[in-house]
Amino acid sequence: MTDLLFPEDTLARRIAAYENTAKANEGLHALFTAQTDRIAYLKRHRDWVEKNRWGMGDRAFHYMWMLILADAAARFPSLDLLEIGVFKGQTISLWALITRELGLNASITAISPFEGNLKPQPRLLHSLRKKLDPTYREANAVGNLHAIDDYLARNREIFTAFDLDFGGVKAIKGFSNAPEITAQVSNETFALVYIDGDHTLEVARSDIATYAPLVRAGGYLIMDDAACFLPGETFWKGFESVSKACEDIPALGFTNVINIGHNRIFQKNGS
Ligand SMILES: C[S@@+](CC[C@H](N)C(=O)[O-])C[C@H]1O[C@@H](n2cnc3c(N)ncnc32)[C@H](O)[C@@H]1O
Repeated sequence: MTDLLFPEDTLARRIAAYENTAKANEGLHALFTAQTDRIAYLKRHRDWVEKNRWGMGDRAFHYMWMLILADAAARFPSLDLLEIGVFKGQTISLWALITRELGLNASITAISPFEGNLKPQPRLLHSLRKKLDPTYREANAVGNLHAIDDYLARNREIFTAFDLDFGGVKAIKGFSNAPEITAQVSNETFALVYIDGDHTLEVARSDIATYAPLVRAGGYLIMDDAACFLPGETFWKGFESVSKACEDIPALGFTNVINIGHNRIFQKNGS
């Protein structure tokens, strides 16, 4: 089992074997890191992201996403995917790449401001603002500061690098907690929702409350940066704010079926 590689390896098998212990979480994270490198197109994509500094997250997530997308595609008539918080497009381009490689049809929706919020500034000013401005200090501490840039252009670049079509993505420019943005998807349902936007407790909670109900029964809600309270030490655990917000998820009808590093996978009960 440990060394099984996709397609013999499946999400269902991993979930059935999963134990939420330090040893299992550390082992799974290390194994999925190695598995990413055994699948040429996953390795090539992650290498490109790291070389060009195109995103964060862990190498292990590439293999995780392949198992998740293959599983969801087999169980749902349509593979409708939603990402909250896009940055330069690492994850949505990976979804597009995996679905192309596996011959799947997916429809990708992505909600993000696509513009950043931090003007270039001297290091000294950054230190001063951290000292004097509690809002700035919190934004910095939870990874909410992103250099001002044209992130739609950055998304196009990574899609082009892998000969993928960013035009096929429904990119919604704005904040996940703004009513006019929420309204654009509130009548839709998704096979999976990935939340990786604003990491404050308040907005992480609001994202969960707003977008978890859009997940179809049997579908997945995946929370990034959310493993602070899980056992395991050999991987980055995320933010306490997002980890705390995840405590709301079971009451919304989800079960935490498996965790890979700081990515926590919740499955909606039913079906
Ligand atoms: C950590 S980055 C996302 C990384 C991305 N998921 C990836 O895999 O490369 C967080 C992103 O969320 C965006 N963001 C911040 N607040 C948001 C909000 N309220 N709604 C949607 N996106 C938000 C930021 O602009 C940034 O692009």
